[in-house]
Amino acid sequence: MLANKCIVVGVSGGIAAYKAAEVVSRLVKLGAEVHVIMTESAQKFIAPLTFQTLSRQRVVTCMWDEPKEWEVQHVALADKADAFLIAPATANIIGKIANGIADDMLSTTVMATSAPVIMAPAMNVHMYANPVVQDNIGKLARLGVHFVEPGVGLLACGYSGKGRLAEVEEIINKVVAVVNSCQDLAGKKVLVTAGPTREVIDPVRFISNRSTGKMGYAIARAARERGAEVVLVSGPTNLDAPAGVQVIQVGAALEMYQQVQEHYPDAHVVIKSAAVADYRPKEVSDRKVKKKEGDLTIELERNPDILLELGQNKGDKILVGFAAETNDLVAYARDKITRKNLDFIVANDVTQPGAGFGADTNIVKLLFPGGQIEELPQLTKDQVANVILDKVVGLINKV
Ligand code: PMT
Repeated sequence: MLANKCIVVGVSGGIAAYKAAEVVSRLVKLGAEVHVIMTESAQKFIAPLTFQTLSRQRVVTCMWDEPKEWEVQHVALADKADAFLIAPATANIIGKIANGIADDMLSTTVMATSAPVIMAPAMNVHMYANPVVQDNIGKLARLGVHFVEPGVGLLACGYSGKGRLAEVEEIINKVVAVVNSCQDLAGKKVLVTAGPTREVIDPVRFISNRSTGKMGYAIARAARERGAEVVLVSGPTNLDAPAGVQVIQVGAALEMYQQVQEHYPDAHVVIKSAAVADYRPKEVSDRKVKKKEGDLTIELERNPDILLELGQNKGDKILVGFAAETNDLVAYARDKITRKNLDFIVANDVTQPGAGFGADTNIVKLLFPGGQIEELPQLTKDQVANVILDKVVGLINKV
């Protein structure tokens, strides 16, 4: 998967530095030429010889080593890299790179590279949560650095929480995805909606649905990885914001409507995977509704159909809808393509195991206005997201 690719791996000084050995070993097994740069403090945790043996390349540890051949080393490695991975990335190296400090071989080489940069942070839970660190991560993500989020668990410092280096598998998958991904959505603004909406009844109750946001977040993440500027309007979910994506949190359908309208004018592509409530309570009580004898009736009124309104003002934008159905999937989905003026619709039967709400996978059919249907097998939501984006790119290139 990485044949003929050059990956430069930066190792900075944290206890997780020993796990970088496994990362390097896996990259080499996938066919990559791997060059390792270690910071001074990384060498206190693990010896350069380990990386030299695994990568079969000389490990760079110092700016001032006698060069073995005549080339400016940090520039040579920066130019050679197809991807630059820093694992573990400490708060210190993240802070330096975010603020333009180049005072050792690793920070200098990263600054000189035009290859995609991937960082896998690892640090104490409170350091990771520190607003300064989060600001630096946010800044780098906005500049296009890819992050492999740390895992949650018992940390070497004795604390429990978020901060431990992501699993090796996850890091490798990210490197492979970044190296093999093309930036085919660069320069495009993609507006994605995800999750459920909450229609308030009173201060303690609401009407909602079973959407977890997984499908929409996967689309937002994939679009970002393919170079798009992504705005994600999200109903309430438990998911972390995808790195580099502008996330706008909303509650009710009316709020989603407002935010989508605001970001619509300069969006090139809109993908509406949110499960928007069609109705809301006609009256919202400002106090808890108390139970009394007999039944209770809540009168509902229609929410705006956000996608339908976008379709009425489509212009040259690409509009993709979803259809969540329990029966007559194709017939209902076809009706939605026409009524909502869509470029295509992603239809899922939410009664199927492994499809629809909450699952990490989905089973979808893509329906097009000309009547064509493409049936996809069960795929992860990340894979479905990329198939949808492949179609979007195809439509952009056709225009
Ligand atoms: O979030 P997950 O747990 O990962 O689950 C994924 C999913 C099942 C929510 C997703 O795959 C999906 O099917 N999303 C669309 C759900 C839905 O509301 O479908 P619908 O058939 O009711 O709506 C059709 C389209 O119109 C959708 O694009 C919807 O966003 C849009 N719509 C609907 C109602 C409304 N008032 N405004 C809208 O814009």
